[in-house]
Amino acid sequence: MSAAPFDPHRPVAHLRPPRNWINDPNGLVHHDGQYHVCYQYNPDGTDHANMHWGHFRSPDLLSWEPLPIALAPAPGGEDADGCFSGNAVSDGDRIVAFYSAYRSDRWSQPVTTAESHDGGQTFRPRGDLLIPQPPDGCTMYRDPYVWRDGARWRMLVGAALTDGRGAALLYESPDLETWTYRGPFCAGEPEPVGGTGLLTGEGWECPQYLPAASGRGALIISAWDDRDGPQCVAALVGAERGAVFEAGPPVLLDHGPDCYAPALLRAPGGRWLLWGWSWEARDAAWAAAGGWAGVLTLPREISLSDDGSLRQQPAAELPALRGERTVHAAGWIHGPEPVELGGVGRAFDLTARLEPAGQAGLRLLTTADGSEYLDIRVDPAAGELVVDRARASLDPRARGGAYRMPCPGGEPVDLRVVVDHSIAEIFLSTTGQVLTLRCYPTGDGPWRLQARSAPGARLGYTIDAWELLPIVIKEPSADAADPEGQFA
Ligand code: FRU
Repeated sequence: MSAAPFDPHRPVAHLRPPRNWINDPNGLVHHDGQYHVCYQYNPDGTDHANMHWGHFRSPDLLSWEPLPIALAPAPGGEDADGCFSGNAVSDGDRIVAFYSAYRSDRWSQPVTTAESHDGGQTFRPRGDLLIPQPPDGCTMYRDPYVWRDGARWRMLVGAALTDGRGAALLYESPDLETWTYRGPFCAGEPEPVGGTGLLTGEGWECPQYLPAASGRGALIISAWDDRDGPQCVAALVGAERGAVFEAGPPVLLDHGPDCYAPALLRAPGGRWLLWGWSWEARDAAWAAAGGWAGVLTLPREISLSDDGSLRQQPAAELPALRGERTVHAAGWIHGPEPVELGGVGRAFDLTARLEPAGQAGLRLLTTADGSEYLDIRVDPAAGELVVDRARASLDPRARGGAYRMPCPGGEPVDLRVVVDHSIAEIFLSTTGQVLTLRCYPTGDGPWRLQARSAPGARLGYTIDAWELLPIVIKEPSADAADPEGQFA
């Protein structure tokens, strides 16, 4: 791969191709010992257009091999204007990808398929539509998600209904080929997601389903409005009753502003992995100047716990990306004088135990004079963890704002924070909740961490931070492996 000029905002431990636009993770499947991760990809630019499926695979979630583009629009065909989102299943020696066939002259994006018999090196599209017509009463229809359920296969398709409800529509098949429509698996009018002010949306994009024991499960939907576009990602925990999913109240899957269209991968041993799309939170022209836009989140393990909460943590493999330990600090502070914890690079993985009395937390400073910083602070009285990027970039083209996730007061707060150039993922290990956001520091650094407490507050802390090493992107072994020259 030719050396690209240094870009201070390009993540190194998060998946994306060298150039151009990406959005949703697609076609996530474990097949023949490899994790496959495809993604919505425009090979020609940094805007959302001309969607293909780019493709990586990995045996271990740490080193990734770019494979040829998996799906490309067929001129004049059913997907002439884009291969939109979907997933894939492993069935014997084949991978079957299910995706949304986009044509700009059609309001729905019906389901079609493509198959690989060579471990994902090549996919043969079926050409026609698998499910040509949406059921009556839809105004939006796309994003199939297929999973094996005992002897049968089931499929959800995201929809908006004419009666104002968003829906995940259910189909069933004995053989992946003949599908019978069973009705809405789950549907609902836009309703508030917790106390966030966000709504579940008039359409549900990219429905994903995590089945658990005894008919329990979690339905993950990306809430979308025709007028305002993507809103948030909601998780509905509930139970199956035949062909219907009885859902509990919606909760946020990610408490940050920059994670959308997450997708699930059923890994061996009963483990579920999830990747999301983290979009740019900056002016589009700025991203275009850098030649790339969008990144996938870290792979996360997600599970449904007995108390009904969905818990996420970085995949167990990721500590292998830890390099040198740069911070190793423990102590306490009392009052307004911050404590310097040490320098960190532009990519680091941190664990912290915080024991605050009053508002206190960590500050990542990215300019020498302290004028630019990202704050992560606990507000025990409000029962919140606040991640504040209002001062995280001195460049006005970067979005600001403060974001919150619930954080029980009166007990130690265990955090795992992974920062990779322009993406920060903050895991509250005590609750399994996560907050993803993008930030674009302008400072030359060196970046450094401080522990801080508000006047009158106290903070006990134990903090370790390690350099976060880049994931390995293997050289395509021959031109045949990168016929489009995407990784050249
Ligand atoms: C979600 C989404 C999907 C669609 C795809 C198109 O971000 O809008 O609903 O299939 O992106 O790129």
